[in-house]
Amino acid sequence: MSIPALNEPLTFAHGPAWRNRLALAPLTNTQSNPDGTLTADEHNWLVARARGGFGQVMTAAAYVAPAGRAWEGQLGVSDDAHRPGLAKLADAIAEAGAVSAVQLHHGGRRAEANLAGSVRVGPWDDPEKQTIALSTAGVEQAVEEFVAAAVLAEEAGVHGIQVHGAHGYLLGQFLDPRSNHRTDRYGGSLTNRLRIVLEVLEGIRSATGPDFQVGIRLTPEGYGIPLTEGREHARQVLASGLVDHLDMSLWDVFMEPRRDTSGGRIIDRFVDLERGNTRLGVTGKVMTAADARWCLEQGADYVGVGLGAILHHDWATRALTQDGFTPRSLPMTPAELAAEHVGPAFVDYLSKGWDDFVAL
Ligand SMILES: Cc1cc2nc3c(=O)[nH]c(=O)nc-3n(C[C@H](O)[C@H](O)[C@H](O)COP(=O)(O)O)c2cc1C
Repeated sequence: MSIPALNEPLTFAHGPAWRNRLALAPLTNTQSNPDGTLTADEHNWLVARARGGFGQVMTAAAYVAPAGRAWEGQLGVSDDAHRPGLAKLADAIAEAGAVSAVQLHHGGRRAEANLAGSVRVGPWDDPEKQTIALSTAGVEQAVEEFVAAAVLAEEAGVHGIQVHGAHGYLLGQFLDPRSNHRTDRYGGSLTNRLRIVLEVLEGIRSATGPDFQVGIRLTPEGYGIPLTEGREHARQVLASGLVDHLDMSLWDVFMEPRRDTSGGRIIDRFVDLERGNTRLGVTGKVMTAADARWCLEQGADYVGVGLGAILHHDWATRALTQDGFTPRSLPMTPAELAAEHVGPAFVDYLSKGWDDFVAL
């Protein structure tokens, strides 16, 4: 099998081809207005990455329902009021030659109760976390909320969505074998725990048009999910034929499994799965052009880039045009970040969350 170059376009069963194999990873930047509408800063942050050469540009995790809101400044994709900002964003990203996507998110038991406006909901009751278990009808409603958010994004002219099934948010909570002991069809066996994910994907696929690109992000291991189950989730999602792209959120593409001791790297457990027409991406600690090429050599179709794209809005163009490209190092001053179209709220978030990111 020949290994594609980073600048080789990537085609899909639905929606436009990407101009190259580099995707902006979804990055929470807390720049949205209190009502979840896009701000100029968030618009500029994303459009700069489109101008900076990425094939696909994805928003941060955007809440599909107020009950799923997880932090201040989070983008929303749950209300007509969210549509105009997304439409303007979609236009600007397309004009810059990139494919746009919104990441669909529900925080579940990790939602912020103050913002969610009521008690938290999740797959199981947890009085300590003031979380109540969704009823079966409540799960069905959550599925509908993901579907409605995808329809809203499509109506706004966004090319596609990515369902956030990773990192232990609502969908990831359903996948968790340690705690999801529900006795309805959404709990217990792996088939039952994965059901909500497949229903969300089926619902989105049938409610959106043939040119709408549907993706999902999954966790391979962690957040309660053993690697064997993470691999089985990916296998079933790929076998379903429902998605155009699957992004495995590895946090570190070079990593070996943490608990499973049978050897090799985590990436090896996913690139060998039968993927049909679905494109497989990997994300985590890809900092240089050589790192990105290495992922394609292992068998990935595309690569997600997070931190690198904060450091350089044009990380993709640099990686594609400078053979030995390596990014600048941290910390960065607020002025340097501003020059990369990282607005003040994002700078503040980075300085609170990461030691030595921002030189204050
Ligand atoms: C500031 C920041 C915000 C993030 N926000 C999200 C998010 O909204 N959704 C998501 O799925 N992952 C999120 N992630 C994870 C990234 O998408 C990415 O998987 C991770 O940073 C590893 O890739 P990297 O090493 O290239 O940064 C975030 C990471 C960072 C550093």
